[in-house]
Amino acid sequence: MFNTNTITRFQQLETPFYYYHLDVLRQTLEACRTASSKYGFHVHYAMKANFNPKVLDIIREYGFGADCVSGNEVKAAIAHNFGKENVVFAGVGKSDKEINLALDEDIFCFNAESVQELIVINDLAKAKNKIAKIAIRINPNVDAHTHHFITTGLDENKFGINTWQLPEVAEALRNCPNLQFLGIHFHIGSQITDMEVYKNLCTRINEIQDWFEDRGFTIKVLNTGGGLGIDYQNPDTNSISDFESYFKVFKQFLNVKPGQEVHFELGRALVGQSASLISRVLYVKNGQKKNFLVLDAGMTELIRPMLYQAYHLIENLSRKSESPEVGKSESEESQISNLVSQIYKYDVVGPICESTDCFQKDVDLPESFRGDLIAVRTAGAYGEVMASGYNLRDRVGSVYSEE
Ligand SMILES: Cc1ncc(COP(=O)(O)O)c(C=O)c1O
Repeated sequence: MFNTNTITRFQQLETPFYYYHLDVLRQTLEACRTASSKYGFHVHYAMKANFNPKVLDIIREYGFGADCVSGNEVKAAIAHNFGKENVVFAGVGKSDKEINLALDEDIFCFNAESVQELIVINDLAKAKNKIAKIAIRINPNVDAHTHHFITTGLDENKFGINTWQLPEVAEALRNCPNLQFLGIHFHIGSQITDMEVYKNLCTRINEIQDWFEDRGFTIKVLNTGGGLGIDYQNPDTNSISDFESYFKVFKQFLNVKPGQEVHFELGRALVGQSASLISRVLYVKNGQKKNFLVLDAGMTELIRPMLYQAYHLIENLSRKSESPEVGKSESEESQISNLVSQIYKYDVVGPICESTDCFQKDVDLPESFRGDLIAVRTAGAYGEVMASGYNLRDRVGSVYSEE
């Protein structure tokens, strides 16, 4: 993934920064487009995963719509030409200001997450003499078999409307003349790699759409959300998610009736492998029980390991560039092989004044030194967008492979 030229380029740059592998991004988008268009499925990019402007512009080139969770994301989607007719707006706590903005923009659909929200959207639409298009986000109570911090479709989660509340939803829809009911929406969690989970989701969607239709509602849109996972362990050998199998499950198990559209909201699977966080070793601290590599990047640049106990592959690019395959003589090669074969265990930590500011414990790496370049891989989703200014840190930069 990182050739000698790239590493030489990094050596001249100030760290930390996000490095965007734009070729990986394009290949991923192409794979998703090919697999989804086969069945006429509509894919909205879940902008929360990464709203880097360059990334958004590239994603837009592939014809995807946008899935937004704030008024500012709605604005960004429109500014980046996703087209307001392709914008869906989810979120458990949409403010009146955000709803009004989306009404003014005539977006494709609000994914409403409570009965009270339905009534608020109806009232705000009425004040503007508009009709708001609505899908109901429902908790199908399907276990996503993923980390409990990123499970969203169970009765105990704050998102969506539970099935026992559906009679109340039906009544609200009948009493809200400024709402146009488009269909039903689901999102059960993230980093899902077991296709059986999606099969279970299809079964629940089929039951729930029958429930609505039995009561006289017409469903035009079935929005199944996002959540497809990526391979954090093997970013080089498995950089593109299995879109073929993913969409095929929905084709096989979702009961799609004539005139219905199937929508998806993928985030992580589209952008996750397209960036690495590049940082430098500031200090090597050898303790009695532990060795620490203190990086110049921490939870302020990539918070996933600290927030969700997420795993990211960590590589020492400076030692890698000395490895035999980059054109050394045989004697140099054998010296270096000896060198790189000395594997050390390090706790790789950031500089932030929090003991949770640790990327990973006991990482196997070649002996590492102050100034070495470190790559934290698979950081394209929920990475740069979650960066913060805690400790009054500088905002992390971004560098692109195509510059
Ligand atoms: C409503 C909704 N749709 C889509 C997504 C995208 O999920 P992922 O990035 O796992 O595909 C999320 C993520 O939290 C979400 O909340």
